Amino acid sequence: MFETDHLTGSKPEQYAQLAQQARGLLAGERDLVANSANLAALVFHALPSLNWVGFYFYDGRELVVGPFQGKPACVRIALGRGVCGTAAATRTTQVVADVDAFPGHIPCDSASRSELVVPLVRIDRDGGEELVGVFDLDSPEPGRFDDDDRTGLEAIAHIWLEACA
Ligand code: SME
Repeated sequence: MFETDHLTGSKPEQYAQLAQQARGLLAGERDLVANSANLAALVFHALPSLNWVGFYFYDGRELVVGPFQGKPACVRIALGRGVCGTAAATRTTQVVADVDAFPGHIPCDSASRSELVVPLVRIDRDGGEELVGVFDLDSPEPGRFDDDDRTGLEAIAHIWLEACA
């Protein structure tokens, strides 16, 4: 059984501990669904004030929901639509303090007030960038995510990319 320690210290210290736990959880496993499911569960239970954590994968046309923790979500999101589609299209992390103020936000769980979405981009054999999907976190708290969360969750997404994408 995989044991997770309670996170302690400053936010960057807590993210360093969470990154260590993520490395341990994904070590030696390359299966994309298994690693995505386990990472979503780890993050959902480790961090406070979250109501949805999970993956959307790019199928070559649009984003399709993958493993997650939380209430059932919308299945397909077009590139450029909502917070997830914007992160995917721009390949930049989106930190949204108030989802109601984000043009085109797609409400999946009406409890969500703020959101952070990290694009998942891998480097292919020719050195080009290839969109794999996005890692999405929702919170019932307005302004839940700050720069420490962005940095910490981009590092966690990188660990996932190295492990299986
Ligand atoms: N709110 C997202 C849709 C996905 S759910 O939050 C799980 C968006 O606007 O892209």
